[in-house]
Amino acid sequence: MADSGDGVNSTSSGKEPRSTLTDGPVTDPASNMKDSKSGALKKSSRYRSRSLSASSTDSYSSGSSSDEDDVSPREKIQKTEKGFTDFCVRNINQNAFGRREIEIAEQEMPGIMALRKRASDDKPLKNAKIVGCTHINAQTAVLIETLVELGAQVRWAACNIYSTQNEVAAALAYAGYPVFAWRGETEEDFWWCIDKCVAAENWQPNMILDDGGDATHLMLKKYNAMFKMIQGIVEESVTGVHRLYQLSKAGKLSVPAMNVNDSVTKTKFDNLYSCRESIIDSLKRSTDIMFGGKQVVICGYGEVGKGCCQALKGLGCIVYITEIDPICALQASMDGFRVVKLNEVIRNIDIVITATGNKNVVTREHMDKMKNGCVVCNMGHSNTEIDVNSLRTPDLTWEKVRSQVDHVIWPDGKRIILLAEGRLVNLSCSSIPSFVVSITAATQALALIELFNAPPGRYKSDVYLLPKKMDEYVASLHLPTFDAHLTELTDEQAKYMGLNKAGPFKPNYYRY
Ligand SMILES: NC(=O)c1ccc[n+]([C@@H]2O[C@H](COP(=O)([O-])OP(=O)(O)OC[C@H]3O[C@@H](n4cnc5c(N)ncnc54)[C@H](O)[C@@H]3O)[C@@H](O)[C@H]2O)c1
Repeated sequence: MADSGDGVNSTSSGKEPRSTLTDGPVTDPASNMKDSKSGALKKSSRYRSRSLSASSTDSYSSGSSSDEDDVSPREKIQKTEKGFTDFCVRNINQNAFGRREIEIAEQEMPGIMALRKRASDDKPLKNAKIVGCTHINAQTAVLIETLVELGAQVRWAACNIYSTQNEVAAALAYAGYPVFAWRGETEEDFWWCIDKCVAAENWQPNMILDDGGDATHLMLKKYNAMFKMIQGIVEESVTGVHRLYQLSKAGKLSVPAMNVNDSVTKTKFDNLYSCRESIIDSLKRSTDIMFGGKQVVICGYGEVGKGCCQALKGLGCIVYITEIDPICALQASMDGFRVVKLNEVIRNIDIVITATGNKNVVTREHMDKMKNGCVVCNMGHSNTEIDVNSLRTPDLTWEKVRSQVDHVIWPDGKRIILLAEGRLVNLSCSSIPSFVVSITAATQALALIELFNAPPGRYKSDVYLLPKKMDEYVASLHLPTFDAHLTELTDEQAKYMGLNKAGPFKPNYYRY
């Protein structure tokens, strides 16, 4: 996203940002409210910030006057034409622009829109009272409005202090939803906003939709009695899911939770297909590079690496792979890529991309050997894949040439082009296709419906994956876009395969 390095995607601890929330443990909300500093804790990137589009961050909200930005939305008295005041956004007058952004997103989110249409009569979320804490942008607005259409009442806060599209938040508030979010919240604002969503008059939430675990954390810590009344938590981020598993292990999770992050429909589409598109976009936008004939090394041939390789090979790059895992190395070989050690090729490489989820994959030693003009970037979750800190030495000069683009210059004049200071390059320099967000949003909505409607006893106080049949349903919601026609099993075939004709079609251990 073209947010000009304001820190949306930086991660202070260098751990998982993604979509996600804070990298480190969440600071206790109560103490945050007292001791808030500059919001540095929230300067982590999150995968879900993937749903921000560059155009949206560059657009209207970021163009709002600085005078206006100087006044905290908490100090403003705002109301809609209908007299609605239960919200706190930057500027309610931006609502029309936000509405247009939401309508554009709806066009590219066929799955969640189809779900909205199919289930709007049944209202499967009637009586659901959802506390939501996600990025607030055009795509998540489509999810929020779908949940309401399906019968839910919602109160919503942002899971990241930088990622809110102010005009979208205004459009949601204008439509009458209690939304508490603006771009550039302080750490204290951040917790205040979530608090406003949890604790309100005549409001006992019964579901949580979290992206990073912060709403869950606040409720668990500060409103424990309320937390015990929750029927289910749906969590999207790696970090939030990790915390839920920790809570469960410690016996502190008193409600069932769905791990949406590890749904097949999310992992495959987010990691492989989305990265396949966004790697090219990120590199083009930041460097204007021509790909044909360029030598590229991709570290890691997992889902993300495979997506990057496909895209770059398609544009005529000569692609090398590094891998630690012989299975992935064999896959890369069979796909026609040379598997090498980084040191073997590094002197001739034009572009280095890390996609391992590991640390120090590209070291100072490697960067010392790179040729002039080599582009270095990271697609993995953590900003530790490239040892960027090792470049902060007195002998090297840093020159910011564009937003998210630094030239690091050696004493002999050699320069490498470092993108997004080693943070996720696609989240920092590109946009995420709404279509991919549609898949995740549909998965989240179904997880809420499943937990909310499950008969007592189906789910215990533990962390679950969405049933495979629902993953299949999410996929099926997106097929009409492609006019894809599924073959139906005959009775004979179903019997032969031991399958139900309506699915699920694969065992849980199937890898796709
Ligand atoms: N940029 C994005 O939009 C985006 C989207 C999804 C996931 N991710 C992140 O990208 C990373 C990769 O995700 P994935 O789904 O491909 O994971 P994965 O586990 O499928 O693939 C990672 C691969 O890296 C290999 N690897 C580990 N250490 C290595 C090393 N030192 N050198 C070479 N190879 C090494 C592993 O063997 C594995 O095959 C993760 O950190 C994930 O969170 C990013």
